[in-house]
Amino acid sequence: MNTQVAIIGAGPSGLLLGQLLYKAGIDTVILERQTPEYVLGRIRAGVLEQGTADLLREAGVSERMDREGLVHEGVELLVAGRRQRLDLKGLTGGKTVMVYGQTEVTRDLMQAREASGAPIIYSASNVQPHELKGERPYVTFEKDGQTHRLDCDYIAGCDGFHGVSRKSIPEGVLKEYERVYPFGWLGMLSDTPPVNHELIYAHHERGFSLCSQRSQTRSRYYLQVPLEERVEDWSDERFWNELKARLPADVAQQLVTGPALEKSIAPLRSLVVEPMQYGHLFLVGDAAHIVPPTGAKGLNLAASDVNYLYRILVKVYREGRTDLLEQYSPLALRRVWKGERFSWFMTQLLHDFGEHKDAWDQKMQEADREYFLTSPAGLVNIAENYVGLPYEEVA
Ligand code: APR
Ligand code: PHB
Repeated sequence: MNTQVAIIGAGPSGLLLGQLLYKAGIDTVILERQTPEYVLGRIRAGVLEQGTADLLREAGVSERMDREGLVHEGVELLVAGRRQRLDLKGLTGGKTVMVYGQTEVTRDLMQAREASGAPIIYSASNVQPHELKGERPYVTFEKDGQTHRLDCDYIAGCDGFHGVSRKSIPEGVLKEYERVYPFGWLGMLSDTPPVNHELIYAHHERGFSLCSQRSQTRSRYYLQVPLEERVEDWSDERFWNELKARLPADVAQQLVTGPALEKSIAPLRSLVVEPMQYGHLFLVGDAAHIVPPTGAKGLNLAASDVNYLYRILVKVYREGRTDLLEQYSPLALRRVWKGERFSWFMTQLLHDFGEHKDAWDQKMQEADREYFLTSPAGLVNIAENYVGLPYEEVA
């Protein structure tokens, strides 16, 4: 078997890259370890930057997003009992975000792949990239008990944090930067109308909470919890009561409760590896970086990497611009680091660190809250990062 670009992983990164390259007439094969049902069963965030939504439009997969997605022109921050609306549109010269779940993005991309007829192999096991530094890289994998070899020009490692791509780079090549946080997020999904028409990020001495949504009838809520917490100990009733206790009385009163469709706990972590290229292998999305969810940047940074790699590969195949390949990692990383900074900053700003912050750092956190939420420049700073910083040109 052979192709131009072998894509490992069928999460949003791999599927979006595959779809954009298909539209550009570049051949790809996508290899995914799991079944499509398993991939669609994962519940992840749901806020798309304008640049991400535009890239989905360019890929030709935006029809349902533009019909069912909710355009949000603002977001609320709740600190010290004060509700502060960030007028995203007004503060950024007209930019907005799109509330549309990652699961739905993935579903639309899977359908587009199917319709295109381009190959995608699910339940591929033992996927292994080879000859990354040589002229003829290839990927081996097993499917239905048979071993296969896929020859290619380039490999896109879109296989997430636990994937094989990053691990196949020899030790000592990558530099890893990491920050772990002393808490996690307990998330719950329910078929109840959202408590507010915009998202609410709430700081409280009992801990952070987030009121998000998937549609006008489906809510997604999160609570900051200690890392040792177990999801079995959180009945629906306990979850709703704790959420109400962290919200101001007027908001809590409006909260419509109901049975949980899903509950899970995820630790918070920041991680970046540099560089994002090794020979003919390019790392994309969660394979190269993880953010805490506070800034809603995970999927958006994945889309940003895809944007750069796609534009570079098109110039490589159409104009012979192989010189651009080495630009991928620095271009992608410049934007990744800004997304990492914002996600780290929002996490610092809004969570309760308890004894994990000393008295000085707690005062700095308070001063940041006071400054960023009252100064026009502070509000612009948060807003322009939240809607997404611009992409650089690939030239
Ligand atoms: N072989 C083949 N596929 C693999 C392998 C492997 N060895 N390891 C992992 N995969 C697959 C996973 O099953 C998954 O479907 O790669 C895919 C990676 O998808 P994601 O983890 O969703 O990563 P990515 O596509 O980069 O999307 C980033 O997802 O995790 C969120 O917050 C993140 O929203 C962001 C987005
Ligand atoms: C979500 O809806 O799941 C969500 C929204 C915003 C975030 C994180 C998660 O910052």
